[in-house]
Amino acid sequence: MKLRVSFSELLVAGIVVTGIGLAGWQVFGSRAGTGPSPALTIRVPALSTQATAGKNAFDANCAQCHGANGSGTDKGPPLVHDIYNPGHHADESFHRAVRQGVRQHHWPFGDMPAQPQVSKAQIEDIVRYVRELQQANGIVSRPHRM
Ligand code: HEC
Repeated sequence: MKLRVSFSELLVAGIVVTGIGLAGWQVFGSRAGTGPSPALTIRVPALSTQATAGKNAFDANCAQCHGANGSGTDKGPPLVHDIYNPGHHADESFHRAVRQGVRQHHWPFGDMPAQPQVSKAQIEDIVRYVRELQQANGIVSRPHRM
């Protein structure tokens, strides 16, 4: 078999391959910021006493869906996320979520079931914990504009 490839054919092939690579990079690159990303890297600060209690309650009741340090899993969103900044999701929304559950609206994970085993005091601790994590990761209060 005689294989003859001209320089211009090689050049065209090179351009096509580069184009496919760039397109792939664009698709995956742009996806990084938008969709649910279960593998967020969270900076964990030194926690206050209340937040430490909150971490224990969170690990026992929330982490199976919301992930270690609120980083998210394939069953629930990260809570250390700009959507849950205190201006958009005030502390009351945490109490409501735990008492009544949440209908799927921001994410594709389905509904959150109510967590009646978690007390009001525990929710307050959990909120403190999530707020301290949020703050350490640059999530600041922004007014709700929806
Ligand atoms: C079985 C999985 C699961 C567990 C357990 C769970 N959550 Fe959720 N949670 C979800 C899902 C899924 C959503 C996202 C719903 C949406 O917006 O689409 C959510 C949303 C939330 C929200 C946002 C509410 C809103 O108003 O949008 C808060 C706050 C929250 N969860 C807190 C908690 C806390 C605190 C715990 C533990 C006491 C907990 N969750 C346990 C699955 C879970």
